[in-house]
Amino acid sequence: MLLLISLLLCLLHYSHGGAYNVMYYGAKGDGKTDDTKVCDHNEHIAFEEAWQELCNDVGPKSRLTIPLGKTFLVGPINYQGPCKSPSIHVRILGTIIAPDNPSSWSSCETGAWLMFSDVNNLIVDGGGTIDGRGSAWWTKSITEEPKCIIPPTALHFENCNGLRLRQLNHRDSPRNHIGLSRCSNSTLSNLDIAAPANSPNTDGIDVSLSTYIHIHDSVIKTGDDCIALINGSSQINITSINCGPGHGISIGSLGINGEYDIVEGIYVRNCNFTGTQNGARIKTWQGGNGYARDITFEQITLHNVNNPILIDQYYCPSGNNCPTKESAVKISDISYKFFQGTSSSRTAINFDCSNKVACSGISLDQINITSTVTGEATIARCNNAYGASSSTEPNTSTCLLH
Ligand SMILES: *[C@@H]1O[C@H](CO)[C@@H](O)[C@H](O)[C@H]1NC(C)=O
Ligand SMILES: *[C@@H]1O[C@H](CO)[C@@H](O)[C@H](O)[C@H]1NC(C)=O
Ligand SMILES: *[C@@H]1O[C@H](CO)[C@@H](O)[C@H](O)[C@H]1NC(C)=O
Ligand SMILES: *[C@@H]1O[C@H](CO)[C@@H](O)[C@H](O)[C@H]1NC(C)=O
Ligand SMILES: *[C@@H]1O[C@H](CO)[C@@H](O)[C@H](O)[C@H]1NC(C)=O
Ligand SMILES: *[C@@H]1O[C@H](CO)[C@@H](O)[C@H](O)[C@H]1NC(C)=O
Repeated sequence: MLLLISLLLCLLHYSHGGAYNVMYYGAKGDGKTDDTKVCDHNEHIAFEEAWQELCNDVGPKSRLTIPLGKTFLVGPINYQGPCKSPSIHVRILGTIIAPDNPSSWSSCETGAWLMFSDVNNLIVDGGGTIDGRGSAWWTKSITEEPKCIIPPTALHFENCNGLRLRQLNHRDSPRNHIGLSRCSNSTLSNLDIAAPANSPNTDGIDVSLSTYIHIHDSVIKTGDDCIALINGSSQINITSINCGPGHGISIGSLGINGEYDIVEGIYVRNCNFTGTQNGARIKTWQGGNGYARDITFEQITLHNVNNPILIDQYYCPSGNNCPTKESAVKISDISYKFFQGTSSSRTAINFDCSNKVACSGISLDQINITSTVTGEATIARCNNAYGASSSTEPNTSTCLLH
C-alpha cells in the first residue's frame, strides 16, 4: 500500500503553485535509502525528478524544499539548466548526505557530487546541512578501486549568473566544499564550512573564471585553503570571514605547467585567521605566464598564523619536482593595510618573488605582526620585490626594492 502511494506520488508530479518538495517524489529521507533512486522502477529518480519539474516550471518563482528533520542520501547529480522560471529557489532545511563509501559512487563524470549547471538567479539556502562524508576519501586505505580517482567537489556551480548561496552548513567534503566556475554577479554568505584540519584538499570555496562575486560573513574551518581564487577570478570581494584551521585565503596556485593564468581586482577585508598555515597568500608555480594584480588585503586579524603575509613564486608542494624555469606569473599592485596579531613563525612577512619576473607595486601600511614567542621579534624577507611601506612591523622598508 505504502509502495503504491509513493509510486502514485512519483507519477503525479506534485506541484503547488511552483512549490515542490522532494517528499512528493518518493524520497525517504531516512539517511539509508538512496533518494536519487527511490522511484527507479519508473526510471524516476526522486531528487532528479523533482529538479526536472522545478526547472520546467515557468515560475515566476519556483521553489524546491528539502524538508527539516530528515536526512537524504543522494548520489552524484547534475542539476542542469537553463530553467524556465526566471528565479529558482532550492531550500535545504534538512540534511543531504553523500554515499560514504567511495566505491559505491555511481558516477563521477562532472567531478562534483552536487552540480548546478547553467542555472541563472539560483537561490540555495535554508539553514540545512550538506555532508560529503569525505573521510573515506581522505585516507589512503581505500581497498577497492573507487570509480572516481579524483575525489569529487561537494557542491559546484558551473556557468551561473545571480547565484545566492547562503545560510547553509557544509561538512567533510571529499575534496573542495564549494566551487564556482564561469559565474558572475553572485553572492555567497552566512556559510559554515567545516572539515578536519588534517583532511587533504578540502578547500572551503574555490573560484575560477568568475567575476563580480561577493563572499561574506562566513566561518571556514578546513584542511586546505579557506578560499582559493584561481585562474580567471576578477572583481571578487571577500569580507568578514573567520578562517582557521586551514591554509588561509589564497590567490592561486597559478601558472602550473606553464599555464597562462590571470587574477585581478581582489579585495579581502575584515577577516580573522586563527591557527592557519597562511594568512594572505599569493602562490604561483615557476614557469607560468599571465598575472595577478590589483589585490588588496585589509583589516586582517591574525592569531598564531604560520605565514601571515606570503607571496610564494616558488610554490612547489611536497612530492613535486620543480626545476628552475625562465618565466613566471607577473605580480603587481598588491596592497596590505591594517594587519594586527601574531605569527607562529619568525618570518611574518615573506615576499619570495620570481628571480626572473620581479613583483612590483607592493605596498604595506599599518601592519603590526608580533611573534607568539615572547621576546622574539618577527622579521620580513624579500626577494626581487619592489614596493614601499609605512608603519610596518616587522619593518619591510629595507628589504623592499625601490
Ligand atoms: C545580479 O543578480 C541579482 C540577483 O542576485 C539581480 O537582481 C541583478 O539584476 C543581477 N545583475 C546583473 C547585472 O546581472
Ligand atoms: C566590492 O567592493 C567595492 C568597494 O566596497 C565595491 O565598489 C564593489 O561594488 C564590490 N564588488 C562586489 C562584486 O561586491
Ligand atoms: C585562464 O583564464 C583566461 C580567461 O580568464 C583564459 O584566457 C586562459 O586560457 C585560462 N588559462 C587556462 C590555463 O585555462
Ligand atoms: C574576528 O574575531 C574577533 C575577536 O574574536 C570578533 O570580535 C570578530 O567578530 C571576528 N570577525 C569576524 C569577521 O568574524
Ligand atoms: C604592536 O602590537 C603589540 C602587541 O599587541 C603592541 O604591544 C605594540 O605596541 C604594537 N606596536 C605598535 C607600533 O602599534
Ligand atoms: C624602518 O626602517 C627604516 C630604515 O631603517 C627606518 O627609517 C624606519 O623608521 C623604520 N620604521 C619603523 C616603523 O621602525
